[in-house]
Amino acid sequence: MPTGHVFIATSLDGFIARPDGSLDWLMSADHAGEDHGYDAFKRDIDAIVMGRGTFEAVRAFDAWPYDKPVLVLSRTLAATPVPETLRDKVTFADLTPQAAMTHLDQQGAARVYVDGGQIVQAFLREGLIADMIISRIPVLIGGGRSLFGPAGGDIHFVHERTDPFPSGLVQSRYRLRS
Ligand SMILES: NC(=O)c1ccc[n+]([C@@H]2O[C@H](COP(=O)([O-])OP(=O)(O)OC[C@H]3O[C@@H](n4cnc5c(N)ncnc54)[C@H](OP(=O)(O)O)[C@@H]3O)[C@@H](O)[C@H]2O)c1
Repeated sequence: MPTGHVFIATSLDGFIARPDGSLDWLMSADHAGEDHGYDAFKRDIDAIVMGRGTFEAVRAFDAWPYDKPVLVLSRTLAATPVPETLRDKVTFADLTPQAAMTHLDQQGAARVYVDGGQIVQAFLREGLIADMIISRIPVLIGGGRSLFGPAGGDIHFVHERTDPFPSGLVQSRYRLRS
């Protein structure tokens, strides 16, 4: 079975997006000249699994940002065709986290980037996240879409390291405690 890996940014109060999904608080943070390791992280993964919410946000970007296969989990989108321009890059499916990982295993993926708040929570509940890199932006946005939520029990991680950056971004790395 592939392992799941999270690389995500949150506000200081733990949100990954405003209630309407906007990321202005993240995009406007001035990180000029800082390498937070995102490119290295993306090079090291074989596939990406994301929720419909994340897909809809990424789709609005000027350019498609991934060069690895993307599996979008959605009951809504599974019944619709993938847009023409993304047909060789994206698959829509209505799968449980376990079934998604089995599918990606059959595609030869070993390391899977898991993205989107609800999707990360669903994968955490099923024990499918091996490690998380969380970058905290020093801004309180007061509400929005949470990275974490009810988990059905405690999930323990080992803190590996925390790196502060001049912009005020603080990045922490955790791996699932075995
Ligand atoms: N700050 C960051 O680094 C960062 C990173 C990623 C995303 N984001 C932002 O976060 C927002 C999206 O996150 P989100 O938490 O709202 O949504 P999400 O996790 O991306 O997607 C949730 C959707 O996925 C579908 N889904 C399929 N299987 C599911 C399952 N087992 N559990 C839960 N959902 C499942 C559902 O859509 P159906 O109803 O169609 O089934 C659900 O509404 C966007 O605004 C995006 O820009 C921020």
